[in-house]
Amino acid sequence: MSGRLSGKVALISGAALGMGFAEAQRLAIEGACVVASDILVDEGEQLVSEICKSGGKATFVKLDVTSETDWQEAVETAVSTYGKLDILVNNAGIVALEGVEDTTLEIWNKVMAVNSTGTFLGMKAAIPAMRKNGGGSIINISSVWGITGTAGATAYQASKGAIRTMTKSAAVQYAAEGIRVNSVHPGIITTPMVVEGVPDEMRESVVAQTPMGREGLPEEVANMVLFLASDEASYVTGGEYLVDGGYIAL
Ligand SMILES: NC(=O)c1ccc[n+]([C@@H]2O[C@H](COP(=O)([O-])OP(=O)(O)OC[C@H]3O[C@@H](n4cnc5c(N)ncnc54)[C@H](O)[C@@H]3O)[C@@H](O)[C@H]2O)c1
Repeated sequence: MSGRLSGKVALISGAALGMGFAEAQRLAIEGACVVASDILVDEGEQLVSEICKSGGKATFVKLDVTSETDWQEAVETAVSTYGKLDILVNNAGIVALEGVEDTTLEIWNKVMAVNSTGTFLGMKAAIPAMRKNGGGSIINISSVWGITGTAGATAYQASKGAIRTMTKSAAVQYAAEGIRVNSVHPGIITTPMVVEGVPDEMRESVVAQTPMGREGLPEEVANMVLFLASDEASYVTGGEYLVDGGYIAL
């Protein structure tokens, strides 16, 4: 354990797979006590067991990010198990690739509920616990598609754009209380979301528009999350951090 997060307590949503899984492992390796949460119970418990076997500290809690009650219980678990909450990673998300006319109201509402409302509810539940603790760091996972446009993905892009600006709103509101809030904007990252949910032609097209010419790894996003979570980022708030192989620069 190299200890960049020694003594800190982190709550991560959507930790069972993909980026959330990598973030939970990375934060635990750096000494954080991790409350890993997801709707996938078996996979989440497996992650926690792996972290504990490697000498880290972790607990699993079932959390559907669209439920305000689940969020309250997850924050309570962090405080009752580890004494406080320092770090929240709002990572859980779902993708939908339909354009405006093909996006049903049902798809729109579901994507907004998980991605945008889920992030809002996470901040709302975590901030009082962070205040008691004298501060904290919130990292909201948006996307390059929360900044720029693509053909299709209307609800996804709207939901990720909302995360980008609600991050800045919260950063301004809570800066004086020592609560930092930043957004991370990954490009295309090899996770179950992409492998199972994005057609090969679209993956190839996004890679072709990425100057580094490859998909990113979940660990490469976790490294950015680690920095923003740590005291190394003590003067960093309200910002948007790309982990995109140059996609936005093109
Ligand atoms: N993979 C990419 O290319 C990419 C790019 C940019 C942004 N993102 C964002 O990164 C985040 C992580 O994505 P990923 O690629 O690891 O996805 P993933 O599908 O591989 O994993 C997402 C996790 O979130 C969980 N989840 C889904 N709905 C949930 C809910 N209602 N409550 C709690 N947990 C829920 C899933 O069970 C899963 O464990 C998402 O917010 C995603 O939008 C992904």
